[in-house]
Amino acid sequence: MDLFDVYPLMDTTPVKAKDCYVWDDKNNKYLDLYGGHAVISIGHSHPEYVNKITKQLSKIGFYSNSIQNPLQKELASKLGEMCGLTEYKLFLCNSGAEANENALKLASFHTKKDRILTFNKAFHGRTSVAVAATDNPKIQSKINTHNVTFINLNDSEAVEKELEKGDVCAVIIEGVQGIGGVRIPQKKFLTNLSYLCKKYNSLLILDEIQSGYGRTGSFFAYEDSNIKPDIITVAKGMGNGFPVGAVLISPQFKPAHGMLGTTFGGNYLACAASIAVLDVIKKENLIKNAKEIGDYLINELVKNKKIKEVRGKGLMIGIEMDYPVAELRKKLREDKKIFTGVSSTNIVRVLPPLTLSKEMANYFIESFNSIT
Ligand SMILES: Cc1ncc(COP(=O)(O)O)c(C=O)c1O
Repeated sequence: MDLFDVYPLMDTTPVKAKDCYVWDDKNNKYLDLYGGHAVISIGHSHPEYVNKITKQLSKIGFYSNSIQNPLQKELASKLGEMCGLTEYKLFLCNSGAEANENALKLASFHTKKDRILTFNKAFHGRTSVAVAATDNPKIQSKINTHNVTFINLNDSEAVEKELEKGDVCAVIIEGVQGIGGVRIPQKKFLTNLSYLCKKYNSLLILDEIQSGYGRTGSFFAYEDSNIKPDIITVAKGMGNGFPVGAVLISPQFKPAHGMLGTTFGGNYLACAASIAVLDVIKKENLIKNAKEIGDYLINELVKNKKIKEVRGKGLMIGIEMDYPVAELRKKLREDKKIFTGVSSTNIVRVLPPLTLSKEMANYFIESFNSIT
């Protein structure tokens, strides 16, 4: 059997990784500013993370959600404490798309409405409702037919025009648009969005799957707008590579047995991985590091006049050029041994582990400047 060929692959075969570095099968060492697509939060193969998962595996790796699992409670409690939402409830699943699928379903259950508002350039995943709320017709099939309306980011007036029709169950918005090119919703817009959702009895879902878990220099990217979303979704950095996702649910929602569910969600290994991530973020002050190194990178990058625009928050940075960046990224990888990400054709996306040091940041800046 061969693989179903859906991924355009880089010509590299990683065989080991440590902190912000990845080694390929020819023993080349790369600085990882892609983080496996914003997934590596506490650094590759962090010893505390490896130890926690390994120890857990030697005890019990899996049982279903029909038994008591104290690790789930420990994870919920530590997560609530770290993000300050101790009164919210946690539903554990396995990926970002699954988290959004459940969040949107929950919003529809709760409001008994069926229309979703989302934004141009949004990405929310590839399952049925999540992909319908994603601004990319190429990845939607005829069966992903849901009642979805797309609006320009930061356009409060357009949002209100739709909400006042009264049929919207939820507005879903990324903390920072990732695949859309690192586009940050204005603080005032988010505050207004929260107000409008309340006014028209619709729910606000913050997709923090890429922007959450400290990546933007606060636990959640929306935090500086002083709102409390009804639902928040997380994944990527949550497990540092172990597949895990979650829905954080505000107290107004009443659960019922069987309402949501998944076989693998909240399994012992996913919980062990996620607890280790939170412990390390706290112990190593990684959110502060993401803010400091992110600010430093952005301030240095804007000095490069060949760059069209630098957009970013913490360690989620988009560097927009006025030409396609494929060749530039290839040079960074082959000549400078740096992995980067991409958005559309002209934007280099920087999504490193939150442990990135100033020295590593300097190496990237020098390398970037030397080839642009
Ligand atoms: C903002 C956002 N939401 C949802 C998803 C989907 O997550 P997953 O690929 O884990 O299903 C992604 C993935 O890139 C994302 O960036």
